[in-house]
Amino acid sequence: MSDQDRSPVKIDPYDLVPVSPDEFIPGSKLPVNVFLRLSEGHYICIGRQGTKTNFNEMHFSGKQDAHVQTYYIRRSDFAACVGSNLTIAGIVLNANQVTESKKLNILNMAADSVFKEFAELGFNIQSIEHAKMVSQGIRTIVESKPDLHSVVSLMSAVPGDLVRHSMAVSAIAVIIAKNMGWVIPGTIEKIALGGLLHDVGYKELPPDVIRKPRHELSYEERATFETHPFRGIEILKTMPSVPDDILSIVYEHHENAIGHGYPRKIRDYKMNPLARIVALADCFVELTIKNHDLPNPRSAGEGLNYIETTLAQPFNKQAFHALRISLDKVAKPSLKVVS
Ligand SMILES: [Fe+2]
Ligand SMILES: [Fe+2]
Repeated sequence: MSDQDRSPVKIDPYDLVPVSPDEFIPGSKLPVNVFLRLSEGHYICIGRQGTKTNFNEMHFSGKQDAHVQTYYIRRSDFAACVGSNLTIAGIVLNANQVTESKKLNILNMAADSVFKEFAELGFNIQSIEHAKMVSQGIRTIVESKPDLHSVVSLMSAVPGDLVRHSMAVSAIAVIIAKNMGWVIPGTIEKIALGGLLHDVGYKELPPDVIRKPRHELSYEERATFETHPFRGIEILKTMPSVPDDILSIVYEHHENAIGHGYPRKIRDYKMNPLARIVALADCFVELTIKNHDLPNPRSAGEGLNYIETTLAQPFNKQAFHALRISLDKVAKPSLKVVS
Protein backbone atom coordinates (compact mmCIF):
# COMPACT_ATOMS: atom_id res chain seq x y z
CA MET A 1 0.00 0.00 0.00
CA SER A 2 1.43 3.42 -0.92
CA ASP A 3 1.64 6.35 1.47
CA GLN A 4 -1.02 8.06 -0.60
CA ASP A 5 -3.40 5.19 0.22
CA ARG A 6 -2.91 5.96 3.87
CA SER A 7 -4.16 9.54 3.70
CA PRO A 8 -6.84 10.13 6.33
CA VAL A 9 -10.36 10.30 4.93
CA LYS A 10 -13.49 11.83 6.39
CA ILE A 11 -16.38 9.36 6.72
CA ASP A 12 -19.71 9.65 8.49
CA PRO A 13 -19.39 7.19 11.42
CA TYR A 14 -22.90 5.87 10.63
CA ASP A 15 -21.57 4.55 7.30
CA LEU A 16 -19.06 2.31 9.08
CA VAL A 17 -19.53 -0.68 11.37
CA PRO A 18 -16.96 -1.93 13.87
CA VAL A 19 -15.36 -5.34 13.34
CA SER A 20 -12.81 -7.19 15.40
CA PRO A 21 -9.29 -7.71 13.98
CA ASP A 22 -9.92 -11.42 14.66
CA GLU A 23 -12.44 -11.50 11.82
CA PHE A 24 -9.67 -11.31 9.28
CA ILE A 25 -7.78 -14.50 8.61
CA PRO A 26 -4.03 -13.64 8.38
CA GLY A 27 -2.66 -13.96 4.86
CA SER A 28 -6.08 -14.18 3.17
CA LYS A 29 -7.30 -11.60 0.66
CA LEU A 30 -9.37 -8.81 2.15
CA PRO A 31 -12.98 -9.03 0.96
CA VAL A 32 -13.58 -5.30 1.54
CA ASN A 33 -11.73 -2.11 2.41
CA VAL A 34 -10.77 -1.98 6.09
CA PHE A 35 -10.41 1.26 8.08
CA LEU A 36 -8.84 2.35 11.33
CA ARG A 37 -10.36 5.24 13.30
CA LEU A 38 -8.03 8.20 13.88
CA SER A 39 -10.49 10.60 15.51
CA GLU A 40 -14.22 11.34 15.38
CA GLY A 41 -15.21 11.11 11.70
CA HIS A 42 -11.64 10.61 10.48
CA TYR A 43 -10.38 7.24 9.32
CA ILE A 44 -7.47 5.75 7.45
CA CYS A 45 -7.82 2.85 5.02
CA ILE A 46 -5.39 0.22 6.29
CA GLY A 47 -6.31 -2.55 3.88
CA ARG A 48 -7.66 -2.41 0.36
CA GLN A 49 -10.13 -4.95 -0.99
CA GLY A 50 -8.28 -7.77 -2.80
CA THR A 51 -4.93 -7.24 -1.03
CA LYS A 52 -3.52 -9.73 1.45
CA THR A 53 -4.22 -9.26 5.17
CA ASN A 54 -1.05 -8.23 6.92
CA PHE A 55 -2.27 -6.00 9.75
CA ASN A 56 0.31 -7.37 12.16
CA GLU A 57 3.15 -6.04 10.03
CA MET A 58 1.71 -2.55 9.72
CA HIS A 59 2.73 0.37 11.86
CA PHE A 60 0.78 3.54 12.29
CA SER A 61 2.24 6.66 13.80
CA GLY A 62 0.67 7.41 17.14
CA LYS A 63 -1.01 4.00 17.32
CA GLN A 64 0.16 0.87 19.02
CA ASP A 65 -1.04 -2.02 16.87
CA ALA A 66 -1.23 -4.34 19.84
CA HIS A 67 -3.89 -2.07 21.34
CA VAL A 68 -6.06 -1.83 18.28
CA GLN A 69 -9.31 -3.49 19.27
CA THR A 70 -11.51 -2.45 16.41
CA TYR A 71 -11.35 -1.98 12.68
CA TYR A 72 -14.17 -0.60 10.58
CA ILE A 73 -15.76 -1.62 7.32
CA ARG A 74 -18.38 0.19 5.30
CA ARG A 75 -21.93 -0.70 6.30
CA SER A 76 -22.72 -1.49 2.66
CA ASP A 77 -19.87 -4.05 2.62
CA PHE A 78 -21.28 -6.28 5.39
CA ALA A 79 -22.61 -8.98 3.10
CA ALA A 80 -19.41 -9.24 1.07
CA CYS A 81 -17.32 -9.45 4.22
CA VAL A 82 -19.41 -12.18 5.79
CA GLY A 83 -19.93 -14.04 2.52
CA SER A 84 -16.21 -14.47 2.01
CA ASN A 85 -15.63 -15.93 5.45
CA LEU A 86 -18.27 -18.63 5.58
CA THR A 87 -16.49 -21.78 6.53
CA ILE A 88 -19.16 -23.89 8.15
CA ALA A 89 -19.17 -27.49 6.92
CA GLY A 90 -16.73 -26.47 4.22
CA ILE A 91 -19.34 -24.31 2.53
CA VAL A 92 -17.88 -21.45 0.57
CA LEU A 93 -20.54 -19.15 -0.68
CA ASN A 94 -20.99 -16.13 -2.77
CA ALA A 95 -23.97 -14.08 -1.63
CA ASN A 96 -24.82 -13.54 -5.32
CA GLN A 97 -25.71 -17.25 -5.56
CA VAL A 98 -28.90 -16.46 -3.69
CA THR A 99 -31.65 -15.49 -6.08
CA GLU A 100 -34.50 -13.25 -5.00
CA SER A 101 -36.91 -16.22 -5.04
CA LYS A 102 -34.76 -18.09 -2.49
CA LYS A 103 -34.72 -15.26 0.03
CA LEU A 104 -36.55 -16.14 3.22
CA ASN A 105 -38.24 -12.89 4.11
CA ILE A 106 -39.53 -14.37 7.32
CA LEU A 107 -35.92 -14.80 8.51
CA ASN A 108 -34.94 -11.30 7.53
CA MET A 109 -37.99 -9.78 9.18
CA ALA A 110 -37.35 -11.81 12.34
CA ALA A 111 -33.73 -10.64 12.39
CA ASP A 112 -34.74 -6.97 12.01
CA SER A 113 -37.19 -7.12 14.88
CA VAL A 114 -34.91 -9.15 17.15
CA PHE A 115 -31.93 -6.82 16.74
CA LYS A 116 -34.12 -3.81 17.51
CA GLU A 117 -35.17 -5.52 20.74
CA PHE A 118 -31.53 -6.29 21.60
CA ALA A 119 -30.64 -2.61 21.57
CA GLU A 120 -33.49 -1.93 24.02
CA LEU A 121 -32.34 -4.80 26.24
CA GLY A 122 -28.96 -3.10 26.61
CA PHE A 123 -26.53 -5.28 24.66
CA ASN A 124 -23.42 -3.30 23.79
CA ILE A 125 -23.23 -2.03 20.23
CA GLN A 126 -20.14 -3.98 19.26
CA SER A 127 -21.77 -7.27 20.31
CA ILE A 128 -24.91 -6.42 18.36
CA GLU A 129 -23.02 -5.43 15.20
CA HIS A 130 -20.95 -8.63 15.30
CA ALA A 131 -24.05 -10.78 15.81
CA LYS A 132 -25.79 -8.97 12.93
CA MET A 133 -22.86 -9.73 10.65
CA VAL A 134 -22.84 -13.43 11.58
CA SER A 135 -26.63 -13.61 11.30
CA GLN A 136 -26.50 -12.22 7.79
CA GLY A 137 -23.98 -14.91 6.84
CA ILE A 138 -26.12 -17.66 8.32
CA ARG A 139 -29.16 -16.43 6.43
CA THR A 140 -27.10 -16.60 3.23
CA ILE A 141 -26.19 -20.21 4.02
CA VAL A 142 -29.80 -21.14 4.72
CA GLU A 143 -31.00 -19.47 1.53
CA SER A 144 -28.29 -21.19 -0.53
CA LYS A 145 -28.65 -24.77 0.69
CA PRO A 146 -31.89 -26.47 -0.43
CA ASP A 147 -32.04 -28.79 2.62
CA LEU A 148 -31.69 -25.91 5.12
CA HIS A 149 -33.98 -23.69 3.08
CA SER A 150 -36.80 -26.22 3.20
CA VAL A 151 -36.41 -26.99 6.90
CA VAL A 152 -36.46 -23.30 7.89
CA SER A 153 -39.47 -22.74 5.61
CA LEU A 154 -41.27 -25.52 7.50
CA MET A 155 -40.29 -23.93 10.83
CA SER A 156 -42.10 -20.78 9.75
CA ALA A 157 -45.36 -22.78 9.61
CA VAL A 158 -45.06 -23.86 13.28
CA PRO A 159 -47.56 -22.06 15.55
CA GLY A 160 -46.21 -19.26 17.73
CA ASP A 161 -43.08 -17.26 17.04
CA LEU A 162 -40.63 -20.10 16.43
CA VAL A 163 -38.56 -18.35 13.76
CA ARG A 164 -38.26 -15.17 15.83
CA HIS A 165 -37.38 -17.14 18.97
CA SER A 166 -34.79 -19.16 17.03
CA MET A 167 -33.25 -16.05 15.49
CA ALA A 168 -32.95 -14.48 18.95
CA VAL A 169 -31.31 -17.59 20.43
CA SER A 170 -28.91 -17.76 17.49
CA ALA A 171 -27.84 -14.13 17.88
CA ILE A 172 -27.52 -14.19 21.69
CA ALA A 173 -25.47 -17.40 21.48
CA VAL A 174 -23.12 -15.59 19.07
CA ILE A 175 -22.88 -12.65 21.48
CA ILE A 176 -22.04 -14.97 24.37
CA ALA A 177 -19.40 -16.84 22.36
CA LYS A 178 -17.80 -13.61 21.21
CA ASN A 179 -17.63 -12.31 24.78
CA MET A 180 -16.05 -15.61 25.86
CA GLY A 181 -13.23 -14.75 23.45
CA TRP A 182 -14.17 -17.30 20.80
CA VAL A 183 -13.00 -16.01 17.44
CA ILE A 184 -12.83 -18.86 14.92
CA PRO A 185 -15.41 -17.97 12.25
CA GLY A 186 -16.40 -21.60 11.53
CA THR A 187 -17.16 -22.20 15.21
CA ILE A 188 -19.17 -19.00 15.55
CA GLU A 189 -21.13 -19.94 12.44
CA LYS A 190 -21.92 -23.38 13.87
CA ILE A 191 -23.21 -21.75 17.05
CA ALA A 192 -25.35 -19.38 14.99
CA LEU A 193 -26.81 -22.10 12.78
CA GLY A 194 -27.27 -24.45 15.75
CA GLY A 195 -29.12 -21.66 17.58
CA LEU A 196 -31.35 -21.11 14.56
CA LEU A 197 -32.20 -24.83 14.29
CA HIS A 198 -32.26 -25.79 17.99
CA ASP A 199 -36.06 -26.11 18.22
CA VAL A 200 -36.63 -27.57 14.74
CA GLY A 201 -38.16 -30.63 16.48
CA TYR A 202 -41.21 -28.44 17.30
CA LYS A 203 -42.42 -29.06 13.80
CA GLU A 204 -43.19 -32.68 14.75
CA LEU A 205 -45.10 -31.76 17.94
CA PRO A 206 -48.92 -31.51 18.13
CA PRO A 207 -49.89 -27.81 17.63
CA ASP A 208 -51.92 -27.86 20.88
CA VAL A 209 -48.81 -28.73 22.88
CA ILE A 210 -46.83 -25.91 21.25
CA ARG A 211 -49.58 -23.33 21.79
CA LYS A 212 -50.14 -24.10 25.47
CA PRO A 213 -48.10 -22.15 28.05
CA ARG A 214 -45.46 -24.51 29.45
CA HIS A 215 -46.77 -24.33 33.02
CA GLU A 216 -50.19 -25.54 31.84
CA LEU A 217 -48.91 -28.71 30.16
CA SER A 218 -50.13 -31.99 31.64
CA TYR A 219 -47.60 -34.67 32.57
CA GLU A 220 -48.18 -36.47 29.24
CA GLU A 221 -48.04 -33.24 27.25
CA ARG A 222 -44.79 -32.26 28.95
CA ALA A 223 -43.32 -35.66 28.12
CA THR A 224 -44.31 -35.11 24.48
CA PHE A 225 -42.87 -31.59 24.50
CA GLU A 226 -39.56 -32.87 25.87
CA THR A 227 -39.12 -35.12 22.85
CA HIS A 228 -38.37 -32.13 20.63
CA PRO A 229 -34.55 -32.28 20.96
CA PHE A 230 -34.60 -35.92 19.78
CA ARG A 231 -37.09 -35.17 17.01
CA GLY A 232 -34.83 -32.31 15.96
CA ILE A 233 -31.77 -34.47 15.39
CA GLU A 234 -33.91 -37.04 13.56
CA ILE A 235 -34.88 -34.30 11.11
CA LEU A 236 -31.36 -32.94 10.70
CA LYS A 237 -29.09 -35.97 10.78
CA THR A 238 -29.55 -36.92 7.15
CA MET A 239 -28.96 -33.40 5.90
CA PRO A 240 -25.52 -32.92 4.27
CA SER A 241 -25.25 -29.24 5.34
CA VAL A 242 -25.54 -30.01 9.05
CA PRO A 243 -22.28 -30.87 10.87
CA ASP A 244 -22.18 -33.05 14.01
CA ASP A 245 -21.67 -30.10 16.38
CA ILE A 246 -25.03 -28.72 15.27
CA LEU A 247 -26.71 -32.05 16.01
CA SER A 248 -25.19 -31.88 19.52
CA ILE A 249 -26.50 -28.34 20.00
CA VAL A 250 -30.00 -29.44 19.01
CA TYR A 251 -29.91 -32.55 21.21
CA GLU A 252 -28.39 -30.87 24.28
CA HIS A 253 -29.95 -27.40 24.34
CA HIS A 254 -32.17 -28.31 27.33
CA GLU A 255 -29.36 -29.89 29.34
CA ASN A 256 -27.61 -27.75 31.93
CA ALA A 257 -24.39 -27.65 33.89
CA ILE A 258 -25.84 -29.21 37.05
CA GLY A 259 -27.41 -32.21 35.34
CA HIS A 260 -31.05 -31.15 35.82
CA GLY A 261 -31.92 -30.78 32.16
CA TYR A 262 -33.30 -33.19 29.58
CA PRO A 263 -33.28 -35.56 27.74
CA ARG A 264 -30.14 -37.12 29.29
CA LYS A 265 -29.50 -35.02 32.44
CA ILE A 266 -25.84 -34.69 31.53
CA ARG A 267 -23.56 -32.23 33.34
CA ASP A 268 -21.47 -29.37 31.99
CA TYR A 269 -18.29 -31.37 31.36
CA LYS A 270 -20.20 -33.87 29.21
CA MET A 271 -22.05 -31.27 27.19
CA ASN A 272 -20.82 -30.13 23.80
CA PRO A 273 -19.13 -26.72 24.42
CA LEU A 274 -21.31 -25.09 21.77
CA ALA A 275 -24.48 -26.54 23.34
CA ARG A 276 -23.56 -25.00 26.73
CA ILE A 277 -23.77 -21.58 25.14
CA VAL A 278 -27.00 -22.20 23.22
CA ALA A 279 -28.65 -23.65 26.37
CA LEU A 280 -28.04 -20.38 28.23
CA ALA A 281 -29.07 -18.25 25.24
CA ASP A 282 -32.32 -20.24 24.96
CA CYS A 283 -33.17 -19.68 28.63
CA PHE A 284 -32.34 -15.96 28.45
CA VAL A 285 -34.51 -15.52 25.36
CA GLU A 286 -37.41 -17.36 27.01
CA LEU A 287 -37.24 -14.79 29.82
CA THR A 288 -36.56 -11.54 28.00
CA ILE A 289 -37.79 -11.64 24.39
CA LYS A 290 -41.46 -11.05 23.56
CA ASN A 291 -43.48 -13.96 22.19
CA HIS A 292 -47.11 -15.14 22.11
CA ASP A 293 -46.62 -16.75 25.51
CA LEU A 294 -44.73 -13.79 26.99
CA PRO A 295 -46.24 -10.40 26.05
CA ASN A 296 -44.45 -8.64 28.93
CA PRO A 297 -40.95 -10.08 29.13
CA ARG A 298 -38.43 -9.35 31.87
CA SER A 299 -35.75 -6.73 31.41
CA ALA A 300 -32.22 -8.03 30.80
CA GLY A 301 -31.25 -7.30 34.42
CA GLU A 302 -34.32 -9.13 35.70
CA GLY A 303 -33.59 -12.05 33.36
CA LEU A 304 -30.01 -12.36 34.64
CA ASN A 305 -31.22 -12.05 38.21
CA TYR A 306 -33.87 -14.75 37.68
CA ILE A 307 -31.27 -17.15 36.24
CA GLU A 308 -28.88 -16.37 39.08
CA THR A 309 -31.25 -16.50 42.04
CA THR A 310 -34.49 -18.33 41.21
CA LEU A 311 -32.85 -20.92 38.94
CA ALA A 312 -29.60 -20.89 40.99
CA GLN A 313 -27.54 -20.25 37.84
CA PRO A 314 -27.44 -23.78 36.41
CA PHE A 315 -25.51 -22.85 33.26
CA ASN A 316 -21.84 -22.85 32.33
CA LYS A 317 -20.12 -20.19 34.46
CA GLN A 318 -17.96 -18.69 31.68
CA ALA A 319 -20.97 -18.44 29.38
CA PHE A 320 -23.04 -16.71 32.06
CA HIS A 321 -20.23 -14.24 32.78
CA ALA A 322 -19.91 -13.51 29.05
CA LEU A 323 -23.65 -12.84 28.80
CA ARG A 324 -23.45 -10.44 31.74
CA ILE A 325 -20.54 -8.42 30.32
CA SER A 326 -22.24 -8.14 26.91
CA LEU A 327 -25.04 -6.26 28.70
CA ASP A 328 -22.88 -3.40 29.88
CA LYS A 329 -25.72 -0.92 29.98
CA VAL A 330 -27.84 -3.04 32.27
CA ALA A 331 -28.37 -1.63 35.72
CA LYS A 332 -27.80 -4.00 38.61
CA PRO A 333 -31.23 -5.43 39.57
CA SER A 334 -30.94 -4.02 43.09
CA LEU A 335 -30.55 -0.50 41.66
CA LYS A 336 -33.66 -0.74 39.49
CA VAL A 337 -36.41 1.69 40.41
CA VAL A 338 -39.78 -0.03 40.64
CA SER A 339 -42.71 2.31 40.18
FE1 LIG B 1 -36.16 -26.27 23.03
FE1 LIG C 1 -35.83 -22.73 22.33
